[in-house]
Amino acid sequence: MHRPILIIGACGQIGTELTMELRERYGNERVVASDIREGGDTLMDSGPFELLDATNYAAIEDVVMHYEIDEVYLMAAMLSATAEKFPMRAWNLNMNSLFNVLNLAKEGKISKVFWPSSIAVFGPNTPKEDTPQSTIMEPSTVYGISKQSGERWCEYYFKKYGVDVRSVRYPGLISWKTMPGGGTTDYAVEIYHEALKKGTYECFLDKGTQLPMMYMDDAIRATIDLMESPSEKIKVRSSYNLASMSFAPEEVAESIQKHIPDFTISYAPDFRQQIADSWPSSINDSAAKKDWGWMPRFDLDLTTHEMLTNLKK
Ligand code: SER
Repeated sequence: MHRPILIIGACGQIGTELTMELRERYGNERVVASDIREGGDTLMDSGPFELLDATNYAAIEDVVMHYEIDEVYLMAAMLSATAEKFPMRAWNLNMNSLFNVLNLAKEGKISKVFWPSSIAVFGPNTPKEDTPQSTIMEPSTVYGISKQSGERWCEYYFKKYGVDVRSVRYPGLISWKTMPGGGTTDYAVEIYHEALKKGTYECFLDKGTQLPMMYMDDAIRATIDLMESPSEKIKVRSSYNLASMSFAPEEVAESIQKHIPDFTISYAPDFRQQIADSWPSSINDSAAKKDWGWMPRFDLDLTTHEMLTNLKK
């Protein structure tokens, strides 16, 4: 039987689906969801839930002790676009929450940690195409700086204190169950909603802005596969590159037009364009493939099919 798991930030775009998948695999009662706010009915009704502030060490410790938590998935964070507006709040949330969880592990109160990093750790000086696992990383966004620092701390806690922390650099994530919030890659979700509602979409990124993206099912599977892998297979303790597809807005539009021929897209780039321009356009994830067997399943057309079919319901 799997020992109890705590998800912090369970009501967000990734947290919702991660919680439901973990409950499916390990049993509802073994997966404790927590967030600063309540989530949707499916999540709230299917298992234990705690209101929890990720920056409050004592509160997390209480929940960990109460449920005898063994593993923590820390999904709470302020994303790239919002973080540019509230730099200090983003830094405090993104870093303090990570230290809280790493320190619980260091003290032996939990035995395994998942913490997500992002393609935002890369910057304008990083090789843009097929970005290697190890390369120049000079992030130019508040969010990217927090993720890059977080990676350094994860590796440090592993080497110095033996903390079993695991991480992937998520690309932009596309899903239909819960909306993303405050990210630069959010257009790739909004576009499907607007295509069905209005038949047209005004994109906040420009034509030709190619970014690494992934369908949520692949991201969830990668996360759980990494967490279930034997510790000795995890050679990278900062964070693994992870990839499945890369596309620009006009390519999503074309993919949507295969289902909705009259769909149109227009472009009105805002401040998020500069963030997107600083990130890679494609990612080399050979280390994840080699070390723990990562393999993506969803390409753009399959993603479009899943998004439109499920959103229509
Ligand atoms: N999808 C995130 C964002 O756009 C990147 O990790 O902020």
